[in-house]
Amino acid sequence: MSSKDEDVVDLKRRCFLLKATTAVGGVGIAAASVPFISYWMPSAEAEAEARPIKVDISQLQPTQQLTVVWRGKPIWVIRRTQDMLDTLGKVTDELRDPLSEDDQQPPYAKNEYRSIKPEFFIAVGICTHLGCIPNYRPDKGGISPDWLGGFYCPCHGSKYDLAGRVYKNVPAPKNLIIPPYMYLSDNEIEIGTDKEGTELE
Ligand code: FES
Repeated sequence: MSSKDEDVVDLKRRCFLLKATTAVGGVGIAAASVPFISYWMPSAEAEAEARPIKVDISQLQPTQQLTVVWRGKPIWVIRRTQDMLDTLGKVTDELRDPLSEDDQQPPYAKNEYRSIKPEFFIAVGICTHLGCIPNYRPDKGGISPDWLGGFYCPCHGSKYDLAGRVYKNVPAPKNLIIPPYMYLSDNEIEIGTDKEGTELE
């Protein structure tokens, strides 16, 4: 073989190696991309979990608590009696944020009842200290002789009143979170959305 022929073979060989390397590189990128893209794309399950949920409240009896799950969080719906609502004005001096100044609720729940309708209380059932789930304790005298009802977190002893407002001198720093919600009718609410488009962090 002449040196010219050798040069042609060598050039062909280099071209093949270059193409093969590029192809392997391309496969490598494609293979690496699949897990990344599937990780990045929200799963159908996550999307379903983030969607607002409708809750039928027609069967909820006075003092009863209903728990539903939205975005993986427990959401309470509690039907408060007039007697329960009357306790709210009696504990304000003992509360850390009685007027709900902290941004823990949508604007329509920034009131004494922390709700749209006083009768129905909707809240995220997660303690604002370290995330335990407090117990619903509407029983007067149940936690202490002066207890008028509310929520008690057994993890470190935080207490909230029946509007989810945190007491002073407990580890939890803030009132319970009120999620965005709205009434679809007198018997049905939708949790996770509202007319203002409020987002829960
Ligand atoms: S998590 Fe509720 S008091 Fe600590």
